Amino acid sequence: MTPQLFLTGANRGIGLALVREALARGYRVFAGARHPDRASELQALAQTHPQHLDLIAIDVTDNASIAAAAQAVAAQTPRLDILINNAGVFPRGERLTTLDAQTMLHTFHVNSVGPMMVIQHFRPLLHHGAKILNISSQLGSLTRAGGTSYSYNSSKAALNMLTRILAQELRSVRIIAVAVHPGWVRTDMGGPAAPLAPATSARGILDLAQRLRLRDSGEFFTWEGKKHPW
Ligand SMILES: NC(=O)c1ccc[n+]([C@@H]2O[C@H](COP(=O)([O-])OP(=O)(O)OC[C@H]3O[C@@H](n4cnc5c(N)ncnc54)[C@H](OP(=O)(O)O)[C@@H]3O)[C@@H](O)[C@H]2O)c1
Repeated sequence: MTPQLFLTGANRGIGLALVREALARGYRVFAGARHPDRASELQALAQTHPQHLDLIAIDVTDNASIAAAAQAVAAQTPRLDILINNAGVFPRGERLTTLDAQTMLHTFHVNSVGPMMVIQHFRPLLHHGAKILNISSQLGSLTRAGGTSYSYNSSKAALNMLTRILAQELRSVRIIAVAVHPGWVRTDMGGPAAPLAPATSARGILDLAQRLRLRDSGEFFTWEGKKHPW
């Protein structure tokens, strides 16, 4: 059966590379973006892959938007095999003296709470063997994180914990949930000095998704499929 994938933040960066890689593998892709009407690369891909790519409007901080996105996908398919929470934000230049509550809350909303609300709304489409990949970061690792990116690092640490709890709750219905560090990737977020091309990270993430089994649920992986320290 053709694997069916939904992901967020699909209009650029790692998300767009995941769409390209999934289409190259013959997947049916539901690509979530805040503004599909402005997502020119996704629109071009939809023209060349009309049977395999649908653009879905979704802002992960807006519950009504998440509900509408889940409905739009459910109107087309009763099942998803892979759900990738990829959308993320990374506010720069934080220091204790300049920390801003609104910035912190927004970062937690997009990076930690949003993924859970997406999973809640898409849960009816996830059946035995379905795989949830929450795109985290090595900066969310308590043993690895450095720097002073208070909001980003702690929001990814929260996402890691949420993933572990979710994995426990969904184990009995055999749905797999993992956190994934995608590598340091050349995107708007990763910057031009990053060593990894988005396509390389995307290939690794989809290889990992294909290999995941129930025994892997609740774990934190790198894009290469190795265990990442918490
Ligand atoms: N690049 C790296 O080196 C790196 C390293 C570790 C982890 N990550 C993680 O990998 C994921 C993808 O990162 P990236 O490098 O591809 O970032 P990016 O190029 O900055 O793209 C971020 C994506 O998230 C979307 N997004 C932001 N806020 C959103 C919201 N409220 N609702 C829905 N979508 C929203 C953006 O949409 P708009 O275009 O509409 O803003 C965009 O599609 C993120 O979770 C990031 O934390 C990246």
